[in-house]
Amino acid sequence: MSLTGSQQKIFLRLVAALRPNWHSDVNLPAGISELFAANRSFGSRDRRLYRELIYTTLRFLPWIEPLLDTDPDRAAKAVAWLAADLPATQGYRAALCAAWPACPPSVAAKAAHLGASADTLLPAWMTRHCPEAAVAPNLDTLHTRAPLWLRLQSNDAARVVAEFTAKQWPTRRSPVLPGALEVLAEADVTKSDAWTHGLIEVQDLGSQLILESAAIAPGGRWLDACAGAGGKTLQLAALLGPKGHVDAHDIRASALRELEIRATRARATTISVLPALPATAAYDGVLVDAPCSGTGTWRRAPHLKWTTSAGQVSTAAEKQLALLAQFSALVRPGGRLLYATCSLSHLENEDVVTAFLAAHGDFTAEPPARAFGGTPRRVGLAILPAAHNTDGFYVASLRRS
Ligand SMILES: C[S@@+](CC[C@H](N)C(=O)[O-])C[C@H]1O[C@@H](n2cnc3c(N)ncnc32)[C@H](O)[C@@H]1O
Repeated sequence: MSLTGSQQKIFLRLVAALRPNWHSDVNLPAGISELFAANRSFGSRDRRLYRELIYTTLRFLPWIEPLLDTDPDRAAKAVAWLAADLPATQGYRAALCAAWPACPPSVAAKAAHLGASADTLLPAWMTRHCPEAAVAPNLDTLHTRAPLWLRLQSNDAARVVAEFTAKQWPTRRSPVLPGALEVLAEADVTKSDAWTHGLIEVQDLGSQLILESAAIAPGGRWLDACAGAGGKTLQLAALLGPKGHVDAHDIRASALRELEIRATRARATTISVLPALPATAAYDGVLVDAPCSGTGTWRRAPHLKWTTSAGQVSTAAEKQLALLAQFSALVRPGGRLLYATCSLSHLENEDVVTAFLAAHGDFTAEPPARAFGGTPRRVGLAILPAAHNTDGFYVASLRRS
């Protein structure tokens, strides 16, 4: 059997193993990693090939799943055609799709070629919760592989770029945010000196724009109330500068331990992990980067399109409103409350903030200081994926009177 023939066979075998769980398992990526680990003969290039093929399958599941039953050979060819053109996929795509036209960037054109419907690629409820996600250009962007964005933690960008260039990892500075660097290669940046010395952190450009949109003034004491492993805590500390301070809080102790490791690597000395929340309105600013459905991250986690329900989104919104009410009490009079999600659903975004404002007359919404081409909502700003080739986010800035 040819190399491509055996790769196609392996791909179909992997897909068959994942299929029983892909409509229900939120931890499918862990299952994919386990499958790869069980195939001891896989090298890193094999893993890159099959990972891209599997993620493409999940991205276009309503198109591919029926073909797996009726015409597995066409299913494999369609996935190869739809997959990103990467060093790991090039040979396989060229061999399998030799007779196919080049894959167009638009979902509508892809659908037309395959005789499929663009409308099936998002759950129907998502189209109602974020109509822009269901049409070009956001629908197109949502159905491409997510880029790798870094946040520079050093003024010495040239040092990072020089190291990456030597490793043949081309980079590009974001035109809207010079401190954001896109890596235009499949790179494990954790295996770089820049990473070891804390000069970079992996953070999607859209996520970086959340805090940048608020134009946070240097100095002041902030609470990062849902800090997780500290992606935004580190950025917030950098924006506040040496005279500022960030207290980090989360219900996950393991994430906070990771935050401390990252802070040490970044040599950030103005971050403290809080043993307990203070009882008073002590903060100049509070960031509530709320737990959410993650609908803005479907480029990176396409299986969530099929495991997330509208009911879960509503439940997340109830929790978000409760968290916003809880943590708003810690904002000093005149201080700021930033609310953010990585969701595109209005239920978790402007609806939560509107409900919060209705119940808290001492807070008012402020327009974003810098909109970065984001989409204004009734209140707050949505960062839609197509604007800057990012994940989807939402941010609202509120001030306490
Ligand atoms: C979107 S993630 C935060 C991501 C993080 N800010 C970053 O930039 O990497 C939401 C976080 O909220 C935390 N969380 C959930 N419920 C919480 C609660 N009641 N109080 C504080 N944090 C909570 C989760 O553990 C999770 O780490």
